[in-house]
Amino acid sequence: MTITTIFLSFLLLLFGLANSESQLNDKEQTVLLKLKQHWQNPPSLSHWQNPPSLSHRSLAPVEQSPIHRMSHLRRLNLGANNFYGNIPASIGQLTELRTLQLFQCEFNGSFPPKIGNLSKLETLQLDYNVNMTAAELPSSFTELKKLKVLWITASNLNGGIPDTIGEMEALVHLDLSINNLTGKIPSSLFMPKNLSIVFLYRNQLSGEIPRVVEALNIDVIDLSDNKLTGSIPDDFGRLRNMTYLSLFFNQLSGIIPDNFGRLPSLVNLKVYSNNLSGTLPPDFGRYSKLVEFKVADNKLEGNLPEHLCDNERLVGVVAYNNNLTGELPKSLGNCNGLKVVTVYNNRLSGDIPSGLCVNIHKSFSSKNQNKDDNG
Ligand SMILES: *[C@@H]1O[C@H](CO)[C@@H](O)[C@H](O)[C@H]1NC(C)=O
Ligand SMILES: *[C@@H]1O[C@H](CO)[C@@H](O)[C@H](O)[C@H]1NC(C)=O
Ligand SMILES: *[C@@H]1O[C@H](CO)[C@@H](O)[C@H](O)[C@H]1NC(C)=O
Ligand SMILES: *[C@@H]1O[C@H](CO)[C@@H](O)[C@H](O)[C@H]1NC(C)=O
Ligand SMILES: *[C@@H]1O[C@H](CO)[C@@H](O)[C@H](O)[C@H]1NC(C)=O
Ligand SMILES: *[C@@H]1O[C@H](CO)[C@@H](O)[C@H](O)[C@H]1NC(C)=O
Ligand SMILES: *[C@@H]1O[C@H](CO)[C@@H](O)[C@H](O)[C@H]1NC(C)=O
Ligand SMILES: *[C@@H]1O[C@H](CO)[C@@H](O)[C@H](O)[C@H]1NC(C)=O
Repeated sequence: MTITTIFLSFLLLLFGLANSESQLNDKEQTVLLKLKQHWQNPPSLSHWQNPPSLSHRSLAPVEQSPIHRMSHLRRLNLGANNFYGNIPASIGQLTELRTLQLFQCEFNGSFPPKIGNLSKLETLQLDYNVNMTAAELPSSFTELKKLKVLWITASNLNGGIPDTIGEMEALVHLDLSINNLTGKIPSSLFMPKNLSIVFLYRNQLSGEIPRVVEALNIDVIDLSDNKLTGSIPDDFGRLRNMTYLSLFFNQLSGIIPDNFGRLPSLVNLKVYSNNLSGTLPPDFGRYSKLVEFKVADNKLEGNLPEHLCDNERLVGVVAYNNNLTGELPKSLGNCNGLKVVTVYNNRLSGDIPSGLCVNIHKSFSSKNQNKDDNG
């Protein structure tokens, strides 16, 4: 049996093994050496040799390893290298992989559907391969039922998101942002129970946001800069762990549901540049440590919420281009961290709360066309 230790470049961390066992089986060695050849023997892989001999200081030397049984390659990290050419389908033979990181590699071609055959994968990072040929996300990837992390940002994906994405039951972190994805967001997207982060911003997605959310632990949702229509799902108002909701630059209409004001974890709300109407939930800021409140460029009416700064974390209130009435909340006057209040093009009235000008003298946008009803 060949006992193999793959050298790790200590800067690039080309390879990491799941534990101190550092042998690879013959098949895996062969696949790796062929990959190296396929990529024209890039200098960064010069230590992939047969027979390999060097070991990285972070790995226990093989002879000291307590367990002398055959191990497999669990983690392949080639991130942030410059490779010329594509990702060969033979990567699908490394069937014991738990982690595959091929981000920022300047690969071209398209992602091999065979990656969907790496059934033990938990992390798949293919993001920022900006030279990829425009292609769809292979639906075979949604067969990866153990996958927790799927990152394919900025890699020229087009076409739709496979409907089966909601069947990826282990999914925790989904990032398909900055691509050219079109069509509707599959209605099952928010089904995986452990889903925590959903980044689909800067695509061309249209239609409604899925209404049903089973992933009640969601922390971050960013669907901004798409072509989404319809209303904000009521179910988002049940996401008690949600800290960040970003839906700006869409065509969403309808109201901001009242229970959003009572979300206990909400820190950043960015729903500007939509077609939202109705009044703002009055409880915003009372129950969470709100930092950013950005609702500009909609058709919102009524008052600005009185309690935005109750938890004294507030940095920005951006609400210009609406149809808001009443006075600026007095509480903004003694809100220490507040840096930006932009409320022009509304029908606000009354005095600017004392203290406000001092706090925000530089960034206050006074391009104010509000009517001062009080004379
Ligand atoms: C990737 O694309 C950029 C710009 O289009 C180009 O300069 C670069 O050489 C390409 N890289 C590879 C590996 O083809
Ligand atoms: C990918 O890059 C390689 C090496 O630069 C080049 O020979 C090949 O034609 C490219 N393929 C595509 C599809 O762009
Ligand atoms: C995936 O792997 C299984 C065996 O593990 C094999 O039977 C099947 O043909 C493979 N599928 C693809 C698409 O390679
Ligand atoms: C969700 O996360 C919990 C805690 O990490 C884990 O025990 C459980 O197996 C996960 N569920 C799925 C479907 O992966
Ligand atoms: C989307 O596709 C268009 C052409 O169809 C292209 O010009 C543009 O760069 C693409 N955008 C991204 C983010 O890939
Ligand atoms: C939110 O997070 C806490 C831990 O911070 C956790 O106990 C709770 O179950 C999570 N989910 C919901 C829906 O509150
Ligand atoms: C904006 O919402 C109004 C109803 O408040 C609706 O009549 C109008 O069609 C919507 N406009 C767009 C561009 O969605
Ligand atoms: C603002 O609200 C008033 C009264 O509700 C209404 O008459 C007016 O048309 C609205 N303006 C805009 C720009 O929506």
